[in-house]
Amino acid sequence: MPSENMKEQLLELEKKALEELAGVDGPSELEKFRITYLGKKGLLTSFMKKLVELPADERPEVGKLANLIKADLSKLIREQGIADIPASITATVDVTLPGREPLRGHLHPITLVIKEVCQIFSRMGFRVVKGPNVELDYYNFEALNFPKDHPARDMQDTLYVSENIVLRTHTSPIQVRVMEKQKPPVSIIAPGKVYRRDSDVSHTPMFHQVEGLLVDKDVSFGDLKGTLTGFAHQMFGRDTALRFRPSFFPFTEPSAEVDIQCVICGGEGCRTCSHTGWLEILGAGMVDPEVYGFVDYDPEVYSGFAFGMGIERIAMLKYGIDDIQLFFRNDMRFLRQF
Ligand code: FA5
Ligand code: MG
Repeated sequence: MPSENMKEQLLELEKKALEELAGVDGPSELEKFRITYLGKKGLLTSFMKKLVELPADERPEVGKLANLIKADLSKLIREQGIADIPASITATVDVTLPGREPLRGHLHPITLVIKEVCQIFSRMGFRVVKGPNVELDYYNFEALNFPKDHPARDMQDTLYVSENIVLRTHTSPIQVRVMEKQKPPVSIIAPGKVYRRDSDVSHTPMFHQVEGLLVDKDVSFGDLKGTLTGFAHQMFGRDTALRFRPSFFPFTEPSAEVDIQCVICGGEGCRTCSHTGWLEILGAGMVDPEVYGFVDYDPEVYSGFAFGMGIERIAMLKYGIDDIQLFFRNDMRFLRQF
């Protein structure tokens, strides 16, 4: 087809479109018009697809004209669309302004760290479970071998909902709840919020822990050390220094507290690590046979280890944050960095 002929057809098409557009009334007719000419299978679109049939030296000229007509029609459709908006709206709103992009949210740093901790232990074969925040005294203390008048209860003062119901002070009650329901082998981790009468640069009254429990035949303290060291290397890198200190918990024997070298000061000593160079991240130990008594496990057959880590402390070390209170102030300048 010679190009003169194509140009004529194009101009004919434009004329027809303009006549039709003059009679278009309202947004739905306008949309129909747009589809008729500029839609995927529209008249102008189909025409433009046929341009390839032209000899190469004639293509640019006709193509240019087609594009011009397309741009004109698009502009007219846009203007007609705006004119169709009722005056009551255009009088108060500039409808030609670009839209405002909605603020996109993201996960809180504490949530990010919980997810990462759970991923690392899941890869080692631990199952993730949850327990209630409002807990029975029995699970929070009694079955963990804290008798009613035991001084160990003083380390974990909390809000008593009633005489036998507390806001849980740690995630350890979940150990008992799991062992009540399941015979060994058991390997779980349990993340969640816990509550204590506590507040300074490294303590908040509400914080997060992840509990771990593994019970089977022939589990040793070496398994505990290997598991925690493997975790720390994945979380903080291969050359992270870890320190096991003897400690006491009524529900583990022997017990240990585990510190990680302070990344804020590199072990020099600063306000975050109370000038010791180390930051305590978790308590751990071999499950005390007394606890097996409460859940009907035979301590002659089974042994196991447990640990409870402070998530805020891990997040502080991971991101180099020197004040734990920052996590809960909801300051956007802080939160936007994660
Ligand atoms: C416990 O809570 C024991 N349940 C841990 C445990 C589990 C021991 C299983 C043996 C077997 P502790 O009170 O030390 O222990 O707390 C554990 C971790 O929570 C601490 O190492 C610290 O990282 C964090 N932590 C404790 N209190 C606070 C607080 N007020 N604010 C922020 N983090 C805290
Ligand atoms: Mg402690």
